[in-house]
Amino acid sequence: MFEVPPRRSHTCGALRASDIGATVTLDGWVASNRDLGGCAFIDLRDRYGVTQVKFDPTVDAALAAAAAEVRPEWVVAITGVVVSRGSNTNKQIPTGEIEVEATEIVVLNRAETPPFPVRDEVTASEELRLQHRFVDLRRKPIQKNIVLRAEVTHVVRQFLHENGFLELETPILTKSTPEGARDYLVPSRVHGGEFYALPQSPQLFKQLYMIAGFDRYYQICRCFRDEDLRADRQPEFTQIDMEMSFIDREDIYELCERLMSRIWSYVHQHEIQLPIPRISYDEAMARFGVDNPDMRYGLELQDISALSADGFPFPLFADAVAKGGVVKGIVVPNGGEISRKSIDEYTAKAAIFGAKGLGWAKLTAEGWTGGISKFFDAGWQAKIAGAMGANEGDLLLFVADLAKVANPALGNLRKLIAAERGLIPANSYKFVWVTDFPLLDYDAEAGRWVAMHHPFTSPRPEDVPLFDTNPGEIRARAYDLVLNGIELGGGSIRIHDTRLQSKLFSLLGIGEEEANQKFGFLLKALKSGAPPHGGIAFGFDRLMMLLSGATSLRDVIAFPKTASASCLMTEAPGPVDDAQLRELGIALAKPRG
Ligand code: AMO
Repeated sequence: MFEVPPRRSHTCGALRASDIGATVTLDGWVASNRDLGGCAFIDLRDRYGVTQVKFDPTVDAALAAAAAEVRPEWVVAITGVVVSRGSNTNKQIPTGEIEVEATEIVVLNRAETPPFPVRDEVTASEELRLQHRFVDLRRKPIQKNIVLRAEVTHVVRQFLHENGFLELETPILTKSTPEGARDYLVPSRVHGGEFYALPQSPQLFKQLYMIAGFDRYYQICRCFRDEDLRADRQPEFTQIDMEMSFIDREDIYELCERLMSRIWSYVHQHEIQLPIPRISYDEAMARFGVDNPDMRYGLELQDISALSADGFPFPLFADAVAKGGVVKGIVVPNGGEISRKSIDEYTAKAAIFGAKGLGWAKLTAEGWTGGISKFFDAGWQAKIAGAMGANEGDLLLFVADLAKVANPALGNLRKLIAAERGLIPANSYKFVWVTDFPLLDYDAEAGRWVAMHHPFTSPRPEDVPLFDTNPGEIRARAYDLVLNGIELGGGSIRIHDTRLQSKLFSLLGIGEEEANQKFGFLLKALKSGAPPHGGIAFGFDRLMMLLSGATSLRDVIAFPKTASASCLMTEAPGPVDDAQLRELGIALAKPRG
């Protein structure tokens, strides 16, 4: 027999002093159950808060005995009267002025002892938490992130709706979309030996919507990419995907800035300073060494290659410039105190990016000491320190190499040093648009050009002649929005002209036959009357991570995957029945291990 429980009159976060005297019913989970001075107390929890409930045995001994039986995470309905806590007010919680004196408790469901306590502070390993995510999601810090995510989804939808966008769907079972990662494939039962690809993004379909005349599209959509995972990458993730017709880059910047501003004022009551600054890809690489610069702190890269005109006395510097490279460095303010061990760690970090060494020197009142000091006389020391804006007490770090090695080596060192030395201001949001990316990147291993963004990105019109002369110099009408050193979104104005699209395909080594086989539908569509169009996609999980101050996407995704792309709760991916494989016409080359 099931008891029909009374319906809740309030949530567990609702009651205040103004409710004193009211008879209420609360439903929720038992957060804790304790005996204090002969009375049983239950903290009852739901997603709105926690309310203390008192069971006094001198009022109802049987009820107090029943309350003493319930265990953490049991689901109960409690009816009682709201009373003041008097001098025992708990200022930590909004319901802290009151408690409910119970007159009835109904156990709606029992629960096994949870694998870890449902508390704000994490005691269990992430592995255990992910295995029991349904329990972990009851913890307030994670629940707060998930609720915020739902609210921001609503803010985004409302904003885009107000701005004339249509929320339109695109297929999940589709063909490969070239976004640079591997596809997740889905075998077709009906077409033996053939596969769908899950979309890496809705890129081609949103362009088709533009060609069909829908003008302003958006979708909060799932994308799937089989790539190496990191804290800011998941195999399935969510994008706020947008596309517009008859626009140029300025329209996209303006719209996205208003969208970010709306989100930040909703979540943080914080006004983003508009317009968001812009820097070109070349400038980002030169000043910060990376294309996703963190603008919250200085430590900019300094280029002293020009001093080679005076003949660097240090052969490694002179050689690097002679070979077409650069000599660049970073000034670490007050870095004189940094230990040799730390400098060795910096050297190892720079080596990850291909730097063959890291030159260093400390500036003291007596001149430079340590590292490469001995190669420079007082005159050179003053000249270099002056060019780099360094002062006594600072540490200088140098990489002399090709720019494509020196920039990322120093750029990544810059991030490490800023974090290590506490140079990153808290609660600071520094957005920057990075623009004018190169259209192409040369893949030396494969010996061919590859699209830096995707092969539908339009070049800057003035760079089109470079297709035939110097493809590496072509700049794209592409942009990324970067926040605090994380790429939040990226997009471009697209190619809407078939001839230009074919030209780009041929530069990328995609022959006519391959192009037709892979994107024939798009090429046909481009010939059917394609308007000028462009768009952008934001990583919604990354956006939520930055908004909530989390350090991993897993903290803002309800059911995330681990770094090895598995779900510890469902144990996906998993084996399938032989019968299913047979039906699909699939034989495993490697038996299951
Ligand atoms: P792009 O590949 O730059 O562009 O992706 C857009 C944004 O999606 C986020 N993102 C990810 N987030 C979590 N996990 C991942 N594995 C992951 N990969 C990407 C990033 C990124 O900036 N179709 C184009 C957009 C366009 O041109 O309009 C695209 O997908 O925040």
